[in-house]
Amino acid sequence: MKAIEIRNKYINFFKNHNHAVIPSAPLIPENDPSVLFTTAGMQPLVPYLLGQKHPEGTRLTDFQKCVRTNDIDEVGDNRHLTYFEMLGNWSLGDYFKKESIAMSYEFLTKELGIPNEKISVTCFAGDDDCARDTVAEECWKKAGIPEDRIFFFGKDNNWWIAGEEGPCGPDTEMFYDTGKPKCSPECDPSCDCGKYVEIWNNVFMEFYKDKNGYRKLEQQNVDTGLGLERMAMLLQGKETPFDIELFEPVMKKLEELQKVDNIQSRRIVAEHLRSSIMIINDGGRPSNVDRGYILRRLLRRMTRHLNKLEIDLNNLPEIIDISIDSSKELYPELLNSKDTIKQVIIEEKNKFIKTLKNGEKEFEKVANKAKAAGEKVIAAEVVFNLYETYGFPPEMTEELAREQNLKVDMKNYQKLFEEHQAKSRLGSEAKFKGGLASTGEMETKYHTATHLLNAALKVVLGDHVHQKGSNITAERMRFDFSHGAKMTDEEKQKVEDLVNEYIRQDIKVEKLEMKKEDAINMGAEAMFLDKYGDTVTVYKIGDVSLELCGGPHVESTGKLGTFKIKKEEASSSGVRRIKAILE
Ligand code: ALA
Repeated sequence: MKAIEIRNKYINFFKNHNHAVIPSAPLIPENDPSVLFTTAGMQPLVPYLLGQKHPEGTRLTDFQKCVRTNDIDEVGDNRHLTYFEMLGNWSLGDYFKKESIAMSYEFLTKELGIPNEKISVTCFAGDDDCARDTVAEECWKKAGIPEDRIFFFGKDNNWWIAGEEGPCGPDTEMFYDTGKPKCSPECDPSCDCGKYVEIWNNVFMEFYKDKNGYRKLEQQNVDTGLGLERMAMLLQGKETPFDIELFEPVMKKLEELQKVDNIQSRRIVAEHLRSSIMIINDGGRPSNVDRGYILRRLLRRMTRHLNKLEIDLNNLPEIIDISIDSSKELYPELLNSKDTIKQVIIEEKNKFIKTLKNGEKEFEKVANKAKAAGEKVIAAEVVFNLYETYGFPPEMTEELAREQNLKVDMKNYQKLFEEHQAKSRLGSEAKFKGGLASTGEMETKYHTATHLLNAALKVVLGDHVHQKGSNITAERMRFDFSHGAKMTDEEKQKVEDLVNEYIRQDIKVEKLEMKKEDAINMGAEAMFLDKYGDTVTVYKIGDVSLELCGGPHVESTGKLGTFKIKKEEASSSGVRRIKAILE
């Protein structure tokens, strides 16, 4: 049975059991910066599990796009996926264990045709927080699962919560017996030798956990999740998800194109490509932070493994086409964003490919040196250098090291990285001082104008005036400064006239390097004085202005045109804001 048929059967089954079909939420959660990606069908439903009324009622079903990134580095074995689809059904204070288990059993056996003997189940064994789930046990027995295929485990296996805090509860999980021999006499569904494969998880969410512990929710909910790819794999009698129709065409193409055989690399490429396609389709873009960084890691790891297979990267557009083609039945929207998807992936590949070979060579050198010296660990500085200079995500260096039986000093890398972050934050604060989003010709002019304005305000209002912030676009400038009262029209006019006088004088703008101490002694203006290094850059505009600043600036003030104040208003307590333009 193909994945699309399983999905359709599922949605129809629950529709027929009076569930409203709701759309999949985007992979990138709306209004929730606390999580990177949607990781489960329940995630967008949390407010309703907590008691808010859902507009569609108390019985819901959907297919949810999910990304789980805690085990990116395990992709390549025969079962981990970063992207997967979760089929789910929910009771929001409607039915509970009896109906939930009865419907699951009916769906598995009648709709999907899984024989009773293939099914084992697990229930919560009970502890101080919650009693042993004998209700679920009875329901399974009634459905026809014999006692010897009902197992009990503690919170480690049979309790579900997303993260540390939130709605949660005991769950009952269904397992498919692949028919493989037990790996030991103790082998049971909690063992991951591969005999038992988890296919469905029904969570009986009647608790809420926070730092004070567990409390009962006002309503008894059911939250279930069935992994689509895994179910397709089992029903198609395949050994791995990479053998089903969603991956098989890409896997085949990679085998055709490769010059070096490596099944792990093929799986990594096929998986990371599909995951990246789905993330980009939902608006994700590669970057160095948060979800953008995850996407970057996926795409860079994919690129490295394409290289390992010695596949010519000019084939990438065709490989992307094949992957999208395999998923288009499940996600027809991919066809609309195909061009964007390709563009984003290829751009990121191009960015990385320039440095990949050199980075690998560099790593090779360091690794050989370490091995020759009998060392087992790659130093943090090396990991950092590979990141900074060659764009190697540290996790990738770790993977390279692992391939050579080496470790990396991630702890000290983290330290180095944080130090670097702190420094570059200073850099961006210095940049913020100039408010330079970009530095086109107009922005540069406005930048110089902020120095003139700062100086003129001091002359007109007094020496208490200091810059508190600024923001520049090609169209206008905004300048925040310390001053306790609204400016009078006369003051505004004076400031405007003075700035225009400085412009008329066409004063030379000089860039000077000097010791911070000296700059201070000379009375230079600085927004974040204590955060600069010992040697600073100072811009000097005749006798008018002296400011610590990263630039850039025009060569002389005559280039600015005519300065005009458009608005003067309060920004925050004790801070005023001027909006001005150059004409
Ligand atoms: N929320 C449950 C899970 O993700 C169903 O397994």
